Amino acid sequence: MNQTIETILKRKGVKKYTDQQVSDSDLQVILEAGIAAPSGRNLQARHFTVVQNKELLKEINDGVHTLMNAAPDYVPLYGAPTLIIASAPVDIPHADMDCAVAIENMLIAATSLGLGSRFIVTPTRYIESNPQVKKVLGIPEGYRSVACMILGYDADPSQPPVERNKNVVNFVK
Ligand SMILES: Cc1cc2nc3c(=O)[nH]c(=O)nc-3n(C[C@H](O)[C@H](O)[C@H](O)COP(=O)(O)O)c2cc1C
Repeated sequence: MNQTIETILKRKGVKKYTDQQVSDSDLQVILEAGIAAPSGRNLQARHFTVVQNKELLKEINDGVHTLMNAAPDYVPLYGAPTLIIASAPVDIPHADMDCAVAIENMLIAATSLGLGSRFIVTPTRYIESNPQVKKVLGIPEGYRSVACMILGYDADPSQPPVERNKNVVNFVK
């Protein structure tokens, strides 16, 4: 099996992170992978916001928790030191997919670099309900946050990827 396929199969959504921050050089590679993703009509209109400010991460984490009326032990950002938010213009059809495929590219890139990551959407609920936070995050005017990922070092690397239901394919030859 080639390395790309191995990386795709190895990727898992990490729920526990160490305090170690991701290096700027790794972050650049990951963002480049996101930017390399396909986009509808090649509009490339999605925008990426990287959040590493601890106070802001806490505010988003706590804001999501309150909005969701979540259980006390639920930590929406799982303690990850980096959050990447993909946003897209409100008036572009399929922009959700543009953001999602970019996030997936970045998850795979992160896995290939030995980093932990997870696709999450809950922060968008808080961000979209809070114009002041949206402004502080620098999300461009006319854009809405669509999909996010958290990034860092896996604090529990022995956890295997979740089982897949493989009975989801049919062929018409
Ligand atoms: C569209 C989408 C939205 C998701 N939103 C969240 C989320 O808000 N919070 C979360 O903890 N996980 C979220 N996940 C992660 C899934 O729960 C996770 O991918 C799934 O359980 C399979 O696990 P895996 O990522 O390890 O393969 C999301 C995944 C996708 C694709």
